[in-house]
Amino acid sequence: MAVHNHTVSPDPLPPLAAGHLRSDLDLSSAELRALLDLAVDVKARPAAYATVLRGAIVSLLFEKPSLRTRITFEVAAKQLGGDSIVQTGPIGGREPVKDVARNLARWTRMIAARTFAQQTVEDLARWSGLPTINALSDLYHPCQALADMLTLREHWGAWEGRTLAYVGDGNNVAHSLMLDAARLGLHFTCITPPGYEPSETIVAAAREFAQATGARILVTTEIEAGLAGAEAVYTDVWASMGQEHEAIERARLFAPYQVNEELMAMAAPGALFMHCLPAHREEETTDAVMESPVSVVFDQAENRLHAQKALMVMLSAQIH
Ligand code: CP
Ligand code: NVA
Repeated sequence: MAVHNHTVSPDPLPPLAAGHLRSDLDLSSAELRALLDLAVDVKARPAAYATVLRGAIVSLLFEKPSLRTRITFEVAAKQLGGDSIVQTGPIGGREPVKDVARNLARWTRMIAARTFAQQTVEDLARWSGLPTINALSDLYHPCQALADMLTLREHWGAWEGRTLAYVGDGNNVAHSLMLDAARLGLHFTCITPPGYEPSETIVAAAREFAQATGARILVTTEIEAGLAGAEAVYTDVWASMGQEHEAIERARLFAPYQVNEELMAMAAPGALFMHCLPAHREEETTDAVMESPVSVVFDQAENRLHAQKALMVMLSAQIH
């Protein structure tokens, strides 16, 4: 961009090769960096992007509850000059997902969907032909990881050579963080109770990316060793949406992994505390840690908006 004022339109962006964000894997390393650079500009100069989605309606589909994702997508669509329609409930119950997708394609220009099955996101993308965004599935939460990487860069200046430790369930959030960290040169340690490790396939994919960046991707059940040197400590709920029936058993098994002041003291001095929210105080973390000066949880929440706006700007190159 040649001139930095609030009315200059952004330069045209190359379209994302995959045309979707079905999972973190849809972004190449270069696209991931470009998206995060764009998010910085979108955050700094929102007015420059105020007409990118002019006239476009975004379909927002939610099979699971949401505060942050729903509101940030709705605000994002409006701030980019478009609008959104929200539909809650099962996708593909009343009629096949492929029919839902082809209906949405006749009325709206982009889809963001929060689903149980990853396959639902894939089918919406395939059958609608619209740019389709994973707004959390059982396997991935790519929009969360984008916001988190933006947050870390704001606090640290760069990702390379730093260490993020994730403590808790090897779940959708852990998967997406690991894949982004690997591509950005950020060391990532995933600390879980035995039996709750992240998907081996996703760990293998992350290690493959890490070969190019030098990131170290570790998976361990050892809390103290895993946290040594960590400059940010991240946790998430022990029972994700859809796993509520396992909550009591998980609470017992995960208790030693609660991110409290004692655990934070095992990380590097001044380590940041991160959580995707919603947080369950006195379960996966404590009120003292949530409210401490190192907690950046609301920076993460704010950055959901800016990161998703950047993503929608990049995907807007593909809408007609
Ligand atoms: N972090 C996150 O996705 O929050 P919601 O479930 O409220 O959307
Ligand atoms: N792992 C959590 C994240 C919520 C934002 C879940 O899937 O419920």
